[in-house]
Amino acid sequence: MNESISRSVPYGIRGCLIDCLKDPFFYENEQSVRWFIDGLLVIRSGRIIACGDYETTIQNYPNLFVNDYSDRLITPGFIDTHVHYPQTAIVASYGKQLLEWLEQYTFPEERKFQNIDYAAQVSDIFLNELVRNGTTTAMVWSAVFPESVQALFQAAKSKNLRLITGKVMMDRNAPDYLLDTAQTAYSDSRSLIEQWHGCDRLSYALTPRFAPTSTPEQLQITQQLQNEYPSVYLQTHLSENFGELAWVKELFPNENDYLEVYEKAGLVHDRSVFAHGIHLSISEFQRISKAGAAIAFCPTSNLFLGSGLFKLHEAKLNTISVGLATDIGAGTSFSLLQTANEAYKISQLQGQTLSAIQMLFLLTLGGARSLSLNNAIGNFNPGKEADLVVWNPKATPLMAFRNAAPLKNWDDVNDRLFSLMMMGDDRCVEATYILGDRLTVN
Ligand code: GUN
Ligand code: ZN
Repeated sequence: MNESISRSVPYGIRGCLIDCLKDPFFYENEQSVRWFIDGLLVIRSGRIIACGDYETTIQNYPNLFVNDYSDRLITPGFIDTHVHYPQTAIVASYGKQLLEWLEQYTFPEERKFQNIDYAAQVSDIFLNELVRNGTTTAMVWSAVFPESVQALFQAAKSKNLRLITGKVMMDRNAPDYLLDTAQTAYSDSRSLIEQWHGCDRLSYALTPRFAPTSTPEQLQITQQLQNEYPSVYLQTHLSENFGELAWVKELFPNENDYLEVYEKAGLVHDRSVFAHGIHLSISEFQRISKAGAAIAFCPTSNLFLGSGLFKLHEAKLNTISVGLATDIGAGTSFSLLQTANEAYKISQLQGQTLSAIQMLFLLTLGGARSLSLNNAIGNFNPGKEADLVVWNPKATPLMAFRNAAPLKNWDDVNDRLFSLMMMGDDRCVEATYILGDRLTVN
């Protein structure tokens, strides 16, 4: 069948549906999760119009064409809240921690994104990886060059993807070939915002790399842009690595802590997303919470670079919005299932556990809340955009053996979802739907 968002005839998707209605860090599963072993989603013009038990829901739609995915799990599309597309080619680069890793691997690769043809080539590879891993929305870092943003927005637009990105701003402490100035950062960001912010499903994020690579003047310019365009996002890195923390102290001796550098520039607000936040103090957690800002938790990256263990439960206790993130290329997998797997282990190492539903929340409705997109995506509520993933929990011989029994009740569904997160990856993605369209990847 050729599904198309322009099609106004409803059609159905049948399978085991699971989505979140409330935050399972604060509510029991009975209230936070919705599930139907034999469920039906009805979609029209790219939006969900019904979600329920198959036998009941189908009564309202006689003659409905139904795509049958019985025996599969169907969730809302996953949301990656922090990922660097120009680092796609340097995933799995050996042996360094953050600051040396940036110098040795990251900066030379990001230099190549001045060339729009290369940027377009990597954009295609990157977006295909998102889709083939079941990621339907992402907050993405481009490179310092406006060409890199143009290429990614254009590629995302052609796939109808929901995507946020921006030009990296960095005017000191990096190789000359990557530096902008406060003024060019202002004018380049401004024209990209004018061209792309709010176009289809695309939004712009102001993107100062991190405190050490922006002068106070550039941080002020960022604030000026934020004031001129209040609906754009702000993304940056915060408190990831001890060497970075010492450097920030040296460069900003008058600030009491790392967060205060961003606070003084007016960059901590409800459209800010801070990556990592591993070494934050209680006071910093509280101030992030008060500002309504979000943290992107990047488990595979934090383990790969040896950065540390993010205190997820402390962040949640402070009612901070948290999303999960791959942080490619310091992260080691495009799969948000694998990312959840590592998040679970990071929690275990701190004497906490993380349920399958809590992980599902971070990947869907929680991620949507972190990006202020929960009115549009994050679960199967009627009216939401039909971005969803069909997962095959028997995709490998071992998974087929582990998950052989038919699903009978909630415990079975919960267990299957957990096993998918621990054992699964891109091999388990049977179909990714964007605005109700099944996307094929090339
Ligand atoms: N801090 C500043 N830049 C980066 C980056 O590209 N990756 C990570 N993981 N941390 C950063
Ligand atoms: Zn990052």
